Amino acid sequence: VITMAPTLLILLWATGILQVDLLPDKKLVLLPPVNFTIEVSGLSQALLRWEPNPDQEGRNVKLGYRVKISAPQEEDYETRSTESKRVTILHKGFSASVQTILWTDPSLPASSWVSADLEAPAGSPGTSVVNLTCTTNTAANNYTDLRPYQVSLHCTWLVGKEAPEDTQYFLYYRYGSQTEECQEYSKDTLKRNIACWFPRTFINSKGRDSLAVYVNGSSKHAVIKPFDQLFALHAIDRVNPPVNITAQIEGTSLSIQWEKPVSAFPIHCFDYEVKIYNTRKGYVQTEKMTTNAFTSIIDDISKYSIQVRAAVRSVCRAMGLWSEWSQPIYVGNDEQKPLTEWFLIVLMATICFLLLIFSLTCRICHLWTKLFPPVPAPKSNVKDFFVTTHYEKTGSNETEIEVISYVEEPGFEVLEDSVF
Ligand SMILES: *[C@@H]1O[C@H](CO)[C@@H](O)[C@H](O)[C@H]1NC(C)=O
Ligand SMILES: *[C@@H]1O[C@H](CO)[C@@H](O)[C@H](O)[C@H]1NC(C)=O
Ligand SMILES: *[C@@H]1O[C@H](CO)[C@@H](O)[C@H](O)[C@H]1NC(C)=O
Ligand SMILES: *[C@@H]1O[C@H](CO)[C@@H](O)[C@H](O)[C@H]1NC(C)=O
Ligand SMILES: *[C@@H]1O[C@H](CO)[C@@H](O)[C@H](O)[C@H]1NC(C)=O
Repeated sequence: VITMAPTLLILLWATGILQVDLLPDKKLVLLPPVNFTIEVSGLSQALLRWEPNPDQEGRNVKLGYRVKISAPQEEDYETRSTESKRVTILHKGFSASVQTILWTDPSLPASSWVSADLEAPAGSPGTSVVNLTCTTNTAANNYTDLRPYQVSLHCTWLVGKEAPEDTQYFLYYRYGSQTEECQEYSKDTLKRNIACWFPRTFINSKGRDSLAVYVNGSSKHAVIKPFDQLFALHAIDRVNPPVNITAQIEGTSLSIQWEKPVSAFPIHCFDYEVKIYNTRKGYVQTEKMTTNAFTSIIDDISKYSIQVRAAVRSVCRAMGLWSEWSQPIYVGNDEQKPLTEWFLIVLMATICFLLLIFSLTCRICHLWTKLFPPVPAPKSNVKDFFVTTHYEKTGSNETEIEVISYVEEPGFEVLEDSVF
């Protein structure tokens, strides 16, 4: 008991100290940050910076900041840092506010806000480009082994409605920290740039950063308003079609194999679609696949046209677009087709021949009945009635005879049967 007492005292004393230390914080008044500035640190990139208020009390409290962006898009976040980089379009201007908060206890009243903004760039309305679209494509890099793939970029746009005829546009892109100006423009009839092609870029096709594209311009008659846009790589990437497609038919099985497209993505990153077209029946079969081979049972001898396309799977990147279909390859043959036709012709000929023989036989039968007329017998009334009706109905003599002879025959047979 004697040894426990000092320990207890020390504990009580320590708690007291803690409470004494916490208490002033409760009364702590937070002051807003100072020297808040926003600057353009790259295409479609703003850098926000501020300093902690030099008059802020409470040296050992953990301060933080709440940032509120109001334009071009509302956004709210908290940070302990005194600078923050935002990737966003800047042609509409940018404005933000920041306040000091207690990082450990955000419920404590925060400081007042300080605000700053970036003006929208100058320019006459309607002079900036419209309908800016961009696509990327990956190719094998023949120049260096360090980067086995290179990404090309192609952008097109329309001239602003109010842009003077002498307007010239210039396009730049930024990916990560790299910025490049376009070197290969396509022009309209007034020699204004309306498209751009970068055969090689710094874009990493597997990267998750947005691609920033900026188009400004110049004219003697107006200030051309710049325009910028952000693109998500998965949404603009034109995946290459699969390569080395082969197909064989063995018996009734059609097997197809292919290799992944030229792409920085590894083999497990692709979904495929196989299109098998039966050229004889005009029938299309489409199959979704996750492997590089497909076997189909075919019940038809025909020529087949086979095409495969690919898309990057959602496990490797946000789902994007399907590639183009590969060039069709052909397997099987339709030499069977003329054979089938021949078979049909022979069949028809045989049927005709048989019919001819049959009718001849009938005529001979008829002749025979005429040569050797059967024993005359009383004709049934019903038969007489038939003959008369047909006689009345039919117009030409030939038909008349035919009909009569046709009707007569069964009559004779019946008679013969009944007589003999
Ligand atoms: C704020 O900016 C002014 C002038 O640029 C500078 O003199 C001052 O030291 C800055 N304050 C802080 C806290 O950095
Ligand atoms: C340009 O985009 C607007 C909407 O953003 C659309 O209405 C228009 O049809 C597009 N023009 C062309 C030529 O694609
Ligand atoms: C790279 O090589 C491929 C064939 O391996 C060829 O088709 C392509 O044109 C080459 N690319 C360049 C830029 O030379
Ligand atoms: C367009 O923007 C680029 C990069 O910001 C700049 O270097 C160039 O001077 C601008 N051109 C015009 C005509 O404003
Ligand atoms: C296609 O197949 C050939 C031979 O099988 C091979 O040499 C070539 O590397 C393959 N191409 C690709 C892109 O895999």
